[in-house]
Amino acid sequence: MKRKRKHAALSGPPLLEAVLEDFRSFLSPGDFSRLLMELERPLHPSLRLNLLKTEPGDAAIQALSKKYGWQVEGVPFCPTGWWVRQARNAVSRTIEHRLGQYYIQDAASMLPPELFNWVDCPFPLILDMAASPGGKTTHLIDRSSDRGLVIANDSSKSRITALRLVLQSWGAVGVAVTSFPGEHFGEWYPGTFDRVLLDAPCSMQGLRTTENHPMRPITSRERDSLAARQVRLLESALRAASIGGQVVYSTCTLTPEENEGVLESVLQRHRDAFKIIDLSERLPRPAPALQSANGQTFSPQVSGAVRLWPHIFGTAGFFAALLVKTAPFDTHNFTPPVRSLSDAGLIKLPSSEQTSLAGRLLDGYGFDLLTLLERFHWVLYRRGDALFTLPHRLLLQFSGLPFVTAGLSIGEFTPAGFALSHEWAARFEKNCPAGRLCIPQERVPAWLRGEDLHGQTAPQNLPGKIALVEDEAGTYLGRGRVLADRLKNLLPSRLIL
Ligand SMILES: C[S@@+](CC[C@H](N)C(=O)[O-])C[C@H]1O[C@@H](n2cnc3c(N)ncnc32)[C@H](O)[C@@H]1O
Repeated sequence: MKRKRKHAALSGPPLLEAVLEDFRSFLSPGDFSRLLMELERPLHPSLRLNLLKTEPGDAAIQALSKKYGWQVEGVPFCPTGWWVRQARNAVSRTIEHRLGQYYIQDAASMLPPELFNWVDCPFPLILDMAASPGGKTTHLIDRSSDRGLVIANDSSKSRITALRLVLQSWGAVGVAVTSFPGEHFGEWYPGTFDRVLLDAPCSMQGLRTTENHPMRPITSRERDSLAARQVRLLESALRAASIGGQVVYSTCTLTPEENEGVLESVLQRHRDAFKIIDLSERLPRPAPALQSANGQTFSPQVSGAVRLWPHIFGTAGFFAALLVKTAPFDTHNFTPPVRSLSDAGLIKLPSSEQTSLAGRLLDGYGFDLLTLLERFHWVLYRRGDALFTLPHRLLLQFSGLPFVTAGLSIGEFTPAGFALSHEWAARFEKNCPAGRLCIPQERVPAWLRGEDLHGQTAPQNLPGKIALVEDEAGTYLGRGRVLADRLKNLLPSRLIL
């Protein structure tokens, strides 16, 4: 491949042209013109439904389509993914989106979590090594029905807030967010995880500019340094996987050095410790990885990976491979850093207090907390007045791991009683037949603008005076606090439409 060294001076369409020239030799002339034609078309928004909050099947997407005038088409490799081909308004401007009922994500990014085998692993221990902003983490949680534990890690401290917010909005409980270089996990936790996702930091040469994947010029030095880091991260991912465990390696770039080249390097060094699974039957159209590039011929196994060119499925460019670990890796064990839960200020809620809280939630909302905790193996921990639900598995296997945040806030103890949190109510409102307050349809727009309402009749026995507000169709619209003179709007300001 001939690399033109004029990228640094380029921006906008000329940059795309220069980058495209770099990829011409990997495609037949016919495919290259199809790629050019595809890049002329707008990239329609796509979204993935939240199975923690919506019913499986087509009912949820049909209801949204009817309400917002969407024309949708299913993403072929992701049953919960949909392109919105037509819409009256932006798909981000709905209350359902603000309440975390779907995530807006390029369709290609829906592929990696779908590649794992979930059937044989009902309570998986998952490492998402480079997780922020968390789109794929939410997908991993969905595919494991929030019954496992996901360690969602990202080394960039500045990107952790975005990850936290996405996970809160999704309503995930079985998750802990950490911020370490992914390179450490293989040495800290060798042979531990059932599933490891490495959605690697890359040069983002995906040929389509999206909000999360801006195109920018890239030098060969940067690309080589990214490839070297990807090799280290993939080795760490394979070390951290259990024998028989699965690793997905993915990038949102099409440069062979960061894709096939990385797989080849890791294969050369650890050929007997893993195999690359042939994914050719997993997609409705062929999307094979390259067999050779830039004078290098790759091992036959490498072409089992998939390379999503934009013209194949109408997505941004993307690469993914599924690896299965077959033997232990050479590894030096290092002890991970330790911080106890009590050092993090977390204290287990005594069982008498748990029982009393469960009674109040049952009275106020008809919500059966105890059954839920038992079914999912979740436990309640308190920090000051705030109460959190943590996955028991975190305490069993990673109690010392210094996490930034874990589980989901359930609410807080206030002078007016226990007040259910926004994220808990948004996840479990369907399990609450009581404590609901229906507002007339004509007042819904004012409510969604964040305004308080007057003259509403509130249910009795509301813990913390918190009502679950809904419209006449039963669509949940967030929490309201019942005050003497009004219903105070508790929609978080970032969710106001
Ligand atoms: C492609 S993005 C991940 C996107 C994310 N998986 C999603 O679906 O929303 C790559 C991430 O890797 C993180 N990163 C970069 N170097 C890392 C390292 N050495 N260890 C862990 N994370 C790293 C970056 O901060 C960035 O958030």
